Amino acid sequence: MQRKKLNIGLFGFGCVGFGLYQVLERTPTLNATIKTICVKDRHKQRPIPADRFTYHKEDILGDKDINVIVELIDNADEAFEIVSAALRSGRAVVTANKKMIAEHLAELIDLQRTHGVPLLYEASCCASIPILRNLEEYYDNDLLESVEGIVNGSTNYILTKMASEGLSYDAALKEAQQKGYAESNPLLDTGGFDAKYKLLILAAHAFGGILKPSEIFNAGIDRITPLDQQYAREKGLKVKLLARAFKKEDGTVSAFVSPHYIAPTDRLYNVDDVYNGVTLKTVFSEDQFFSGKGAGAYPTASAVISDLSALTYDYKYEYKKVNYYEHITYSHDTLLKVYASSQSDYQADVAAYFEEVWEQFSNGRQCYNIGTISLGNYARLYAEKPVSLIVIDRHTTGEEVLAGVDIEALVATP
Ligand code: HSE
Repeated sequence: MQRKKLNIGLFGFGCVGFGLYQVLERTPTLNATIKTICVKDRHKQRPIPADRFTYHKEDILGDKDINVIVELIDNADEAFEIVSAALRSGRAVVTANKKMIAEHLAELIDLQRTHGVPLLYEASCCASIPILRNLEEYYDNDLLESVEGIVNGSTNYILTKMASEGLSYDAALKEAQQKGYAESNPLLDTGGFDAKYKLLILAAHAFGGILKPSEIFNAGIDRITPLDQQYAREKGLKVKLLARAFKKEDGTVSAFVSPHYIAPTDRLYNVDDVYNGVTLKTVFSEDQFFSGKGAGAYPTASAVISDLSALTYDYKYEYKKVNYYEHITYSHDTLLKVYASSQSDYQADVAAYFEEVWEQFSNGRQCYNIGTISLGNYARLYAEKPVSLIVIDRHTTGEEVLAGVDIEALVATP
């Protein structure tokens, strides 16, 4: 098969953009060159000659010689303008912008169909792990039961450093920023928003059905207390931020992001530092596990390279699940086993949100309740009280409770 030559117009030359430039130089088998790079700031010092850059997007979008647009900028709104203009002009696009995709997935699918051009975004979910192409191609049937895992590198790095080296939250976050793992607004990482955007994309490719970001509840790592860490140490557990989407017995899918206590028997227990790990569960093959670096210039650039390579033989996502399983519905009627810590003054208030409380502790200043709580009440409790909530059993599914919760009203925006 004759592979296409790619003439690339690149938007953005930050950590991942420069990473892509370097990785491309070391990938001679890929018949691709960067023709023009568009950046915003004229005055910023850059590691390659200034004549490689333009400051006008039309220099790329209007250039008929450019047949692929790679979008690696930070701002999701500007990214959507660039990506939709590129698709409308009949050019294939590769992007890593999970926020932009999560906010516009349905429109982006329509644009691809209308203009007959592909948009690939493997780098948007779990950086180096080839999860989207696997969901699209290998798991292109309705046997998938769950997609769960650690999908944010920065928060995993922060949690690892706090637990293993005793670093403070602020010091660990600063390191994650210095290493180029964190978003420029780190609340997107620490608040669980970045993980939520990735979960939305993963769930669309895994189950079909496109959620809005406001329909997925996300708790972050920013409320985790020394008491929570101490509890983990005493029980031999680790705290990990998990994104989970799983089918329930009634056929609906539940999706949310929350810190979890993870036991050593769980494969995710040893997924540390900037690594991500995703477990897929299917009806017949049971658990399968993917792991790899989830953030950083080269791991992300390697996924972009893989998408570029796929474009040379005209690969496109077929959105098989979205097309064939549009009837899938998402539901928040899920019962979770949860540890909730707070100031002791709130112990009874917090317990009132639970279905059942099994264990309580208080030292007079701080306390925790452990028991079962519906996802809807978890979201309500998180919005209404200063609590830290950690799910204690990632394999709890099923059980219908408290229907009719308006999650959208409870989900914060960054
Ligand atoms: N900030 C993201 C993370 C970058 O830490 O996972 C990769 O998507």
